[in-house]
Amino acid sequence: MTQTLTIRRPDDWHVHLRDGALLKGVAPHTARQFARAIVMPNLNPPMTDMAGVAAYRARIVEAVGQGSDFAPLMTLYLTDDTDPDEVARGHAAGVFVAAKLYPAHATTGSAHGVTDIARIYPVLERMAEIGMPLLIHGEVTDADVDIFDREAVFIARTLTRLIADLPGLRVVFEHITTAEAADFVRDAGPNVAATITPQHLHINRNAMLVGGIRPHAYCLPVAKREHHRQALRTLATSGFDRVFLGTDTAPHAQHLKEAACGCAGLFNAPFALESYATVFEEEGALDRFEAFASRNGPAFYRLPVNTQTVTLVREPVTVPASYDCNGTTIVPFHAGETLNWRFAG
Ligand code: DOR
Ligand code: ZN
Repeated sequence: MTQTLTIRRPDDWHVHLRDGALLKGVAPHTARQFARAIVMPNLNPPMTDMAGVAAYRARIVEAVGQGSDFAPLMTLYLTDDTDPDEVARGHAAGVFVAAKLYPAHATTGSAHGVTDIARIYPVLERMAEIGMPLLIHGEVTDADVDIFDREAVFIARTLTRLIADLPGLRVVFEHITTAEAADFVRDAGPNVAATITPQHLHINRNAMLVGGIRPHAYCLPVAKREHHRQALRTLATSGFDRVFLGTDTAPHAQHLKEAACGCAGLFNAPFALESYATVFEEEGALDRFEAFASRNGPAFYRLPVNTQTVTLVREPVTVPASYDCNGTTIVPFHAGETLNWRFAG
């Protein structure tokens, strides 16, 4: 049995780092394990222009501290009014690595999102021309569509058409949660990739609903049935090269999750690599972990792989019940559980 696992230093292709005091409390957890991270723009107000994104990037660099070489990769929040020229200028200047599409009202901080994808076709056409990735929260928001079906319906109603209309557009289907999404990405062309979170590899919807309602297992897209989890595990550990690590770490204060209307999002940054490595070991696929964590993402984003390495040791670690994140108490994913791998740096 392998006792240590040394891989190229990984990147996290989907994080929420928040802002202000909370940014200082959560960003170091991501910077400890990852060289780079794609930073989501769903702040309040959202990050919709170059100046705002550049200033946010500077706050992140300050929050992780001078001793860190962590590189935030920034994203632009698309709205109905996004100007294609601003997108192209920001991308050429290196301010935006990618742009994020939130369907309006799909999730936390998406109130200013896109109401109808047809409205932003000029932006998407420009992104296809310049090779800038579009990152998609893939859920429809129609009130008549069951929340457990919203991802599959998004594929059928929106994503299939988008990719047929704009085959040159480079798309990351974020935090996929269904067998339909896994199949879609596997069958798509080279311009379509996906991220998968640790929680969607570990839990199905029972974790949220059996024995009481468990707000710390609630995120969006919501965890689905067991057969979907199995499909995600198969895709992630198969060696397929257009799927990569994206934690979707989304910290919320404990009291805002343990509430009558609790916020969506799991804080998984502190034990992200341990959590994923446990899955790869269970699937007998530790030899494929480096591709998922460290190689497939840079290849799709056309960035160099990292030169340093990190090591995980096969030793039990117990995840704390909560963290004090610079004054905000946050319950992490796996709180109180024991994982098989320890991040040794
Ligand atoms: O669970 C989620 N939390 N899903 C999202 O899409 C957004 C995120 C957040 O920002 O809290
Ligand atoms: Zn997210």
